[in-house]
Amino acid sequence: METQLWREMLDPYRLAVDELVVKFTHVKQEYQDARMYSPIESVSGRVKRISSILEKAHRKGIDIEQIEEKIEDIAGVRIICQFVEDIDTVVDIIRKRSDMIVKREKDYITQSKASGYRSYHIIVYYTVQTIRGPKNLEAEIQIRTLAMNFWSTIEHSLQYKYKENMPDELRERLLRAADAVEALDHEMASVRDEIMDAQNSNRQKANIITNILNNIENLYHIANEREVTKIQNEFFDIYKKDDMALLKRFNKQLDMLSETYHAQSIQSLAGNFTDI
Ligand code: GTP
Ligand code: MG
Repeated sequence: METQLWREMLDPYRLAVDELVVKFTHVKQEYQDARMYSPIESVSGRVKRISSILEKAHRKGIDIEQIEEKIEDIAGVRIICQFVEDIDTVVDIIRKRSDMIVKREKDYITQSKASGYRSYHIIVYYTVQTIRGPKNLEAEIQIRTLAMNFWSTIEHSLQYKYKENMPDELRERLLRAADAVEALDHEMASVRDEIMDAQNSNRQKANIITNILNNIENLYHIANEREVTKIQNEFFDIYKKDDMALLKRFNKQLDMLSETYHAQSIQSLAGNFTDI
């Protein structure tokens, strides 16, 4: 295939990868905006390089004309999760979406590959709109934990280095490392609730502090400067104590105070108008 033709063929895949990355990143954003724990940690994507497409076609005896039909991962998206449990949630999200149709699922988590590779793959049909009209294509979505991703990144670079000649001893060590990764994911799952509680309370604390600082800033415009400085110092004292209950109470009091000031300033504004 000529370079120009390759570009023409790959262009819709580029668009698909871009769109899918935006969509899954937005899922994460939605969870965060709703102040909920997100099963998605990060999203990335790539279009397979021409050299890799040719190598795979050669390895699998695929004709150039059949590339789009037979190679499912020309468009590839990777979703990284913190915990194994999150993978199920992400798989469910994908199954329920109406903008992608599941063609096939490959569960290399319960059935890891001979290399030790673990990940959950979903091949989807996805339609992009081009100037030539809609184009339906396939994309591979890989869903894995941070730990699984760590392992496969290292293993991939070793595979690349040794090609087919990876020493048996190294292969063995990678298998042992894969077992360690599985044990780590298992261990992490057991502390997941605690980690999530910690993340939630960190987020809650950050929200409260933002609210307090916003209130103090607004008070600067409408209240007496000495009083606001006093409030600010009080806040610093409470902040240093690192006590959530105190912080919450202070936040509530400040909310009420701000409201009172706000009501007063609206009243005096109304008063000004009646003077005219
Ligand atoms: P190829 O491995 O590319 O021939 O894909 P396939 O059509 O046989 O599908 P498979 O599900 O085996 O692999 C799809 C993708 O998963 C690969 O392109 C890799 O990104 C990843 N993968 C599969 N096996 C391994 C592995 O042993 N190690 C690593 N690091 N990644 C793997
Ligand atoms: Mg393979």
